[in-house]
Order: sequence, then C-alpha cells, then structure tokens
Amino acid sequence: MDKNKQPFYITTPIYYVNGEPHMGHVYTSVAADVIARFKRLAGYDVYFLTGTDEHGQKVAQTADKLGITPQAVTDLYSQAFRDILPLFDISNDDFIRTTEERHKKTCQILWQKLEEAGAIYLDKYAGWYAVRDEAFYGEDELTDGPDQDTKIAPSGAECKWVEEESYFFRLSDYQDRLLELYANNPDFIGPKSSRSEIESFVKSGLKDLSISRTTFDWGVPVPGDDKHVMYVWIDALTNYISALGYGHDNSDLYTKFWPADVHLVGKEITRFHAIYWPAFLMAAELPVPQKIYANGWWVVEGQKMSKSLGNVITPQSLLDDYGSDGSRFALLREIPFGNDGNFTREGAVNRINGDLANGLGNLSQRTLSMIAKNCDGKVPVNNGYEAADQALIDAVYALPRTCETHIDAVQLHKYLESVWAIVGEANAYIDVQAPWKLKKEDPDRMNTVLYVLAETIRCLAIMALPVIPRGANAILDQLDIAQDDRQFSHIGSNYAVTQGQTLPAPSGVFPRIELVKEEAA
Ligand code: MSP
Repeated sequence: MDKNKQPFYITTPIYYVNGEPHMGHVYTSVAADVIARFKRLAGYDVYFLTGTDEHGQKVAQTADKLGITPQAVTDLYSQAFRDILPLFDISNDDFIRTTEERHKKTCQILWQKLEEAGAIYLDKYAGWYAVRDEAFYGEDELTDGPDQDTKIAPSGAECKWVEEESYFFRLSDYQDRLLELYANNPDFIGPKSSRSEIESFVKSGLKDLSISRTTFDWGVPVPGDDKHVMYVWIDALTNYISALGYGHDNSDLYTKFWPADVHLVGKEITRFHAIYWPAFLMAAELPVPQKIYANGWWVVEGQKMSKSLGNVITPQSLLDDYGSDGSRFALLREIPFGNDGNFTREGAVNRINGDLANGLGNLSQRTLSMIAKNCDGKVPVNNGYEAADQALIDAVYALPRTCETHIDAVQLHKYLESVWAIVGEANAYIDVQAPWKLKKEDPDRMNTVLYVLAETIRCLAIMALPVIPRGANAILDQLDIAQDDRQFSHIGSNYAVTQGQTLPAPSGVFPRIELVKEEAA
C-alpha cells in the first residue's frame, strides 16, 4: 500500500465454481485488468480483486451430480479459475474464495449490522426461484414452462416454486434512496441501457428480499440461527469488502480502498450490484461503490456458447490461437465495451494482423531496423522538428489524458481506438516522409524523422502496456527504456529517447496469424 498515491479499487464478479472457466470469464477479467494496469501506470495505488463464488444451491447441485462434496467441487474449480489468471497476464492483487474464513467472518458481521439496524426480519418465503441464476423472480416476470411446476425467467432459466421460513431484508424501504442515488450520480450505473433498465425496475416497486435458505446447508450460517444459511447473493456481494478485511482486526485495506471505484459486472447481474448491494450498504451505514459497469455478452460465430453445441471457447484454445496479448486485444478491440459481441475467428485474426502485426508491430519493426541499418544502431540526432513532426509528437503526448477520460468512463474500446488512431498516423507519417529516400537526399532529415518515430513508438508502447503488456514491453526493451520509465508520467519531452544511445538488435514483436492455415489444421 502506498500512502502517497490515490487509491483505486476495481473488482471483477466472483465466478461460480460449477464448471470450467471459458472465454466469457476471461473477458471480464481482462477488461478489469486493463483498467487496473492503466490506473497503475497513471500513478494510482490500485487494488484489483477477483475470486470465486462458492456457496449456494447451484454449487451444491453440481457436487451432487459429480458425486463429490461441495468443498471438493469448489477446490477443483476455484483452482481452475485461479490458474488461468497468470496465463492471460491478469495482475490481480488478491483472489477471494467465499469459502474462506476471512470472508465468512465479514458476512456474519455485516449481517449483524443489518440486524442491529432493524433491516432484517423473519417470515416465510413463498415464490419462484431459479437455481441457475440463484435469483428470486416475481410472477409478473415469468412465462410458462414445460410443466405446471416450472416457469421460465427472462434469462431463460427454469424457476421452481419455493416455500420455506426465511429471513427478509427490508429492500422496499430503500426504493427512494436508491432512486436518489441514481439521480444524484448519473454515472453510478453504466452503460446507459443498464442504467435505464435498473431505474425502471426500481421505480416499478421493490419487494423485501428473502436473504436466507433452510432447505440446504451449503452457505454461510446466519449468526444466531444456524438452521439458516445466507442467500448466496448477500454472501457473494460481501466479497468486495471481506477481501479488504472489513470487520477484521486489520482493516487497513478497507480504510484505504473502500468504496470501490468500479465493480465490473456482466449485464445479467447488474440488478444485484446496483440495487441489492447499495441497499445492504446503506442499511449498514457503509459507503456505496462509485460505479457499477456492465459488460455485454459474447456469442461465438453467431451462436450462444454451450457445451451441447460444442462451441465453448476455452481459455486454453484462446491462448493457443492468439496468445495472451492477442486474446486480450481481440476481446477488447472488437466491440464497444458494454455491447454484446459476436466472436469470430476471422474478426480476431483480422484485428490481430491489422492492428498488432501490420499496425504497431510493423511501425516499430520498420523504424528500428532502419535505425539499426542507417544510424549505426543508435538513436539518431534530432535536427529540429518540422510541422509534421510536431503534429505527430503532440498527438502522441496528448494520449494519456484523453485515454484516462475513456478509461474512467469504462469506454475501453475508445481508449484502444485513440491509441491505434496514432499508430495509423505514425504509419502514414513514415510513408509520407519516406526516410529510406532521405538517406541519400538529406541524411539530417532522415535522422530527425527516425528520431520522431522512435519517440512516437516509445510513447505508443507505454500507452499500449495495459492491453498488450508482453508486446508493449518487448518494444520498450528494444528502445532500451528502463523499467522505471514506463509510466504515463514519462510520456513527454523530458523523458524522450536519448540521442546517440545504442539500441539492442531489433526483432519482430507481433507475428501474423494465418487464418487459412489455422482453419485447415
Ligand atoms: N457468481 C456470480 C457473480 C457474483 S459477483 C458478487 C456470477 N458468476 S458467473 O460465473 O456466472 O459469471 C461471472 C461473469 O462472467 C459475469 O459477469 C458474466 O457476465 C461473465 N460471463 C459469463 N459468460 C459470458 C459470455 N458469454 N460473455 C461475456 N461475459 C459472460 O454471475
């Protein structure tokens, strides 16, 4: 923890451990990672949390199906989720499991706070429940199912009728305060489509929420009444503060990092984060998060990923096909963040070849090999900028500020568009300046042009670090930029490439991917 830096706390949803991770999960973690890396480079003290959601009926049912204990299921799949993080260069600071003691302790403390505030009462629940979504649904939200005992939720999940004793949270008391929160903080929920959906749901009236179950025991026991386990969503949402040590002897992280700057969530779980979570926190008199931002859903080659269709893209196949940088880039560059997307192999390959191999890769390869050949492998002398040079340099120096605005608005695609617009400008600049021609005609000018390009590439590589950390670092290595000089604060003339500095021999950074060959294989 760095006391001198401003805190920034970002979270992913915690993943259900009822199956193996797939591309959809990688997507959410990569998006959060790009923001976390960006804010670190912008000088913030970042805390980036991810983890696994291990209680509830869904996991209990998976254990039954596999014929092993729920604990064994959670150990198995939680590890699978943990293992993929380093493969995609996810730079999380912590990984929380909801079966850990530290988490259960915080859940029980929060529960007691809610109880003390008079926000919890005991009653009987009778209504529809979807195990797949771990959610209660109102009659008016459902359509008829295949038989009388089954209804279908808007998400497509099957709902069954449930009747049992249950503790309730007085959610209905928070309707006005929630609407006020949304009105006073227009950016609390994003994107706009999610915000309107949540707002109209709350306006239509909130019912008290059942927050405990008695018909199975795979959950955190309710303090003072262990016939009940907590409803998995009150348990799951609490991860965001249990990981910070809320209610523990040492709660320094909580003091520094709460409230979260952004909870990234999938669009189908916005309701839990933007309604229940702030209401629980308000009841416990704790600060609410700054922002809930929903990502859309990927389908693959036009179809929903499903085991039965056999079209699930596994993390390993992403890595085999595109590598870590390539996967990260393709997932984020393709669609406006927040929208649904159709992942196609052709689209991913075109992006990687177009923007990485031909775009940034070619720009640095062309420049660095010309420097190696024509400037004795040393950063050339800058003989003074002409208008075109200054325009390119000004554009690249302006990137940190523009991009931070996009990142703060969780417009990840706009951040990438802005950086790659300058990659395009730099490639156009090479073509117009044609340094290969200047070699004979005007070597001084050639030096300046190559200097401008080296400086532009240095800044572009720093800007690209959050999304393609491997390739961007490799470019910075080729420019011999010290590790400590790779922050956004180094983008500017004070840290410009050093004239006369000998550079290592250049080599290609982003290989092209062959679409046809791969498909044939
Ligand atoms: N356990 C809950 C979250 C609790 S947070 C307090 C949960 N888990 S999940 O494993 O089902 O989903 C985790 C995230 O993965 C969600 O944000 C979801 O949107 C995301 N994705 C799962 N499949 C996806 C796609 N096909 N495309 C994009 N993201 C999707 O919900």
